Amino acid sequence: MDSKKIALVTGANRGLGRSAALALARRGINVILTYRGDGVGAQETVEAVRAAGSDALALRLDIADVASFPPFVAGLGERLQPWGATRLDILVNNAGVGIFSPLEQVGVADFDAMMDTNVRGTFFLIQALLPLMADPASVINVSSSLTRHTSPATAVYSASKAAVEVLSRTLALELGPRGIRVNSIAPGPTATDFNGGAMRDDSDMRAGLAAQTALGRVGEPAEIGDAIATLASDGLRWVTAQRIEVSGGALL
Ligand SMILES: NC(=O)c1ccc[n+]([C@@H]2O[C@H](COP(=O)([O-])OP(=O)(O)OC[C@H]3O[C@@H](n4cnc5c(N)ncnc54)[C@H](OP(=O)(O)O)[C@@H]3O)[C@@H](O)[C@H]2O)c1
Repeated sequence: MDSKKIALVTGANRGLGRSAALALARRGINVILTYRGDGVGAQETVEAVRAAGSDALALRLDIADVASFPPFVAGLGERLQPWGATRLDILVNNAGVGIFSPLEQVGVADFDAMMDTNVRGTFFLIQALLPLMADPASVINVSSSLTRHTSPATAVYSASKAAVEVLSRTLALELGPRGIRVNSIAPGPTATDFNGGAMRDDSDMRAGLAAQTALGRVGEPAEIGDAIATLASDGLRWVTAQRIEVSGGALL
């Protein structure tokens, strides 16, 4: 039997979700990772977690499909048994969508995709997982530095992440009596597939962002993963209801 802590990380088939899964694994935490359709990427994360010395399990979950949450949660208890666990210690709501268009070009479907995934999915997944959360536990919702600074064509995305931050703070109050901490991590521009991979592949954009960042470059996924794992750790057990920006000092 394995008595390690258990984390659930959404959207961990790639990007920041994978980095968070790996950072948690390096700290001795087993990971349930979810993916929407990319089973190959999810399996790669599972293998990487195992190489880091912990165990992982990949489960399919579309965060925009809240009707699928009750059956997903109903099957989860059974999945924890091989690890000798009955509860989740850490929940990382990482899965998110950014569609960047000027006001005139934002379609209703784009608006709904961002709100449904970033806000609705995050809120109802926390609600659905509550019976399975340990007391104490840590919930970390991934926001964005764009809730603090502005950039053209980001209104809906930034508003969705602002909603994530406000619901995080309010749920921290509601869940405090159970010892459940709720915080948001707000990454700055980070080199992943996000926004078509621009922060990784577009040298002009990287140079422009670097010039506006105190530490002089864009972020790397591992830097966000480490921050998430650190926030989930006991060393920060007295921290709740906070927005922690991890951006190298972007657009100060
Ligand atoms: N990279 C940045 O600069 C940056 C900055 C601030 C905040 N963030 C936030 O950080 C989080 C991770 O972003 P990333 O950089 O890793 O981006 P990414 O490489 O585009 O990855 C996004 C992840 O979210 C998943 N996802 C999207 N919609 C989903 C749905 N309906 N159901 C389940 N999974 C879904 C994706 O799954 P698929 O592979 O199936 O698409 C993927 O795993 C997001 O919340 C994003 O808003 C990123």
